[in-house]
Amino acid sequence: MRKHTESELCAERAATVIPGGVNSPVRAFGGVGGTPVFIKEARGSRLIDVDGNSYLDLVGSWGPMILGHAHPEVVAAVQEAAAKGTSFGAPTSGEIDLAEEITSRTNCEEIRLVSSGTEATMSALRVARGATGRDKVVKFAGCYHGHADAFLAAAGSGVATLGAPDSPGVPASATADTIVVPYNDIDAVAAAFEQNEGQIAAVITEAVPGNMGCVAPADGFNQKLYDLTRANGALLISDEVMTGFRVGPGGVKAPADLYTYGKVMGGGLPAAAFGGRRDLMEQLAPVGPIYQAGTLSGNPLAVAAGLTTLRLLTDDVYEKLDGLAEQIGKMASSALSEAGVAHYLSAPGNLFSIFFSENRVTNFNEAKAQNTGQYAAFFHTLLEEGVHLPPSAFECWFVSAAMTGEDLSHLETAFSRAARKAATVRL
Ligand SMILES: Cc1ncc(COP(=O)(O)O)c(C=O)c1O
Repeated sequence: MRKHTESELCAERAATVIPGGVNSPVRAFGGVGGTPVFIKEARGSRLIDVDGNSYLDLVGSWGPMILGHAHPEVVAAVQEAAAKGTSFGAPTSGEIDLAEEITSRTNCEEIRLVSSGTEATMSALRVARGATGRDKVVKFAGCYHGHADAFLAAAGSGVATLGAPDSPGVPASATADTIVVPYNDIDAVAAAFEQNEGQIAAVITEAVPGNMGCVAPADGFNQKLYDLTRANGALLISDEVMTGFRVGPGGVKAPADLYTYGKVMGGGLPAAAFGGRRDLMEQLAPVGPIYQAGTLSGNPLAVAAGLTTLRLLTDDVYEKLDGLAEQIGKMASSALSEAGVAHYLSAPGNLFSIFFSENRVTNFNEAKAQNTGQYAAFFHTLLEEGVHLPPSAFECWFVSAAMTGEDLSHLETAFSRAARKAATVRL
């Protein structure tokens, strides 16, 4: 048995000064039970906790650490930037470099930098509302777009883990204009447009949903959404905070008017962006009347980490990431099959997850029907075996380019033990 004495002491201390002992709910292990491990440092594919235990990391800070932890070139870029001053509150050439890197990889003509995915989606919605002069927004159940009020209706991620359909503190008026429909249900979107004629500013979707576990869009779904928004004078916001620069050089790049990014583009520091068509983005202040701002937006350290990360993400790296995701997904799935555990491997790209359920999962209701008790047993056995999986059955697994052949061998043994443990949990 691994010792977790220091982590337990940290958890006790943390709980007295930080709500639940964590600064983001899913970190608290609410979805799997037990005490979270507190991390001291990380390098390459591995995390080291405060008790000195090492873990192969399949969370990657929920996406950003695509190159692995403490990548020497990213660290050097941040150190160099820090030595020159940590924030200026004035424009820098690095911001232009990052904006050029992003616009060259994506469908965006212009982008604006912010500090979190939440800010990016909140701002994109404001642009959509300002540009169309309409208020309503259609979102999908189980899609998570950060914690801005308008999106906290049937959201996935930590909200799914907590089982809270909504959040106290979000006024009814803030979600009164949010229409929630089931994911992959194009007829429901069409019906929403019919019932709210001339009132819908935008449809927002995750380009590939990753916050109810990983769910593949049905064939042509993103294109159909785009066509429906066109036909109804509304805009489509493609949320690529999770997929952007991870599933490929530019993300999913499905047709849309506005896009949001975060995670990978900050290289582990707080950077995010929203962008899209020039005519829409130029409605933002100071060019246009739609207000949006940020003291630390375009922070030089975050820009340095993000730019260095993106420049290191070459086609070869994406090939490696795709290969790793395929191998690891199949390895976990075979271990579960051998142990007789019903499951569904959902792997629409190098983002993937395993649902502990017999059936294919295409939406949030189907995702919620899985056996989270089996996932918890799988998770805790893996943790004991030195593998860090998301502490929730409703999250994607993230590979990093730092993973090695040795890591894969480690995983094979660990998956097999964890699958046998999961098999002991009654349905
Ligand atoms: C698709 C998506 N959008 C938005 C967000 C919010 O980003 P942040 O946590 O940086 O505010 C997330 C976070 O997980 C996300 O996955």
